[in-house]
Amino acid sequence: MLTEKFLWGGASASYQCEGAWDLDDRVESMWDHYLHEEQLENGDVASDHYHHFEEDIKMMKEGGQNAYRFSLAWPRIIKNKAGEINEKGIAFYHKVLDCCHKYGIEPFVTLYHWDLPQYWEETGGWLNQEVCDAFEHYAKVCYDHFHEKITHWVTFNEPKWFVCSGYLIGNYPPCFRDTQKTIIAAYHVMYASALGVRAFKESGYPGTVGIVHSFTPVNGVDDTIETRIAMRYADNYCNNWILDTAAKGEIPIDLLSELSKNYDISFMKPEQLAIIRENTVDFLGLNYYSRTLVKPYTEGETTFVVNNSGKEGKGSSKVIVKHWFEQVMHDPNSTYTEWDTEIYPKGLQEGLKEVHEKYGLPIYITENGIGMYEDVTVEQVQDDYRISFMEDHINAMMNAADAGVKMMGYFAWSAFDLYSWKNGCEKRYGLVAIDFEHDLIRKPKKSYGWYKDMITGNIKIQRKDL
Ligand code: BG6
Repeated sequence: MLTEKFLWGGASASYQCEGAWDLDDRVESMWDHYLHEEQLENGDVASDHYHHFEEDIKMMKEGGQNAYRFSLAWPRIIKNKAGEINEKGIAFYHKVLDCCHKYGIEPFVTLYHWDLPQYWEETGGWLNQEVCDAFEHYAKVCYDHFHEKITHWVTFNEPKWFVCSGYLIGNYPPCFRDTQKTIIAAYHVMYASALGVRAFKESGYPGTVGIVHSFTPVNGVDDTIETRIAMRYADNYCNNWILDTAAKGEIPIDLLSELSKNYDISFMKPEQLAIIRENTVDFLGLNYYSRTLVKPYTEGETTFVVNNSGKEGKGSSKVIVKHWFEQVMHDPNSTYTEWDTEIYPKGLQEGLKEVHEKYGLPIYITENGIGMYEDVTVEQVQDDYRISFMEDHINAMMNAADAGVKMMGYFAWSAFDLYSWKNGCEKRYGLVAIDFEHDLIRKPKKSYGWYKDMITGNIKIQRKDL
């Protein structure tokens, strides 16, 4: 059973939707800098939510939703390394929050969804421990200014995804391919998250604080000892360093032991580890797109090939972590999107149960959705594939709730079409179409109406065992 106060909403992220990248004294983020330098498709305008937020939030209300997950942009709020506040940025988010409350939409707010101010990136970004203290300052500014309007806070969105993409795989800024740097950045982010949790608890403001994780539950190709060892390595790489650290205050010891054989971990100081141990989260947000299916490592160097190009790249993804595991990208019994994402709702059901058993915390699905190419010039996008995707995953979540998992909310990714990082605007996830070529016109897709009917009870989810 879902709780009575269950949150049903849609999600977005500041850089992916706001646009207005240099308006009202917003400073450059690391993504602005990188995408401008490389002359890549960017979020300068994106969905122009900066000017359309009222229309977007009103549509959520009209779509039966009662919550909106979005992020605050650090570069809009803090002007410089000295930590000076940009009052215009504060004023903008007050308007957004007032609008949420006007329409009865609960704001569910992430402090960091990847848009680090470039002035901090220039000092080394997440490799520089000072950035952790700067994050704490930024978090306090947000708590102090917005505590009367926000009671659901999230420190970080997806440490695994942005740290591994930025420091190990190299397809996100700052584009390193360096394991030592990955370990340092990962540690600093988890430490900064604990500082953010501590600052919230010390403030005494009402509400709860959590972290959002890019959750890929790990399955093995068989039940042999070799596969189970590979699964443990994969689980440490994909999930445990975020979830164990944030929820239990412990970095998995077998992971540290393994890393310490080849890398320096002496920068992890006892007093910081104590802060991590003592400042665990109140809830977990899980973003679920797919599982990770693994087999034991056989041969070859560590390899990460990410398909950021849709059709042209279909089937090109590859993950091998030398001596640890290999990811199986093509299960003949499964279906995959153009970007090689396996559609696997059972992973959500089983994964939720595992997370519940391990941590016992309340859980929100903070993102779930399917990215597709869509022609948005039509009167209405007939996205039956999205409806079927959402129905299957909501069913999976309900099965988990029936089995005792404390499910608190579900957010569709995304509330409306956005700029999808390296995939650009062509990869669409929205319940509402945005025609980026024609005045950013908004038009609800078929899934928007379906979601409304599901929330209001006009449509019942077809329940099935997975
Ligand atoms: C999550 C992020 O990784 O997945 C979002 O929190 C992102 O910011 C979403 O957009 C979908 O991923 P992608 O790469 O298809 O945009």
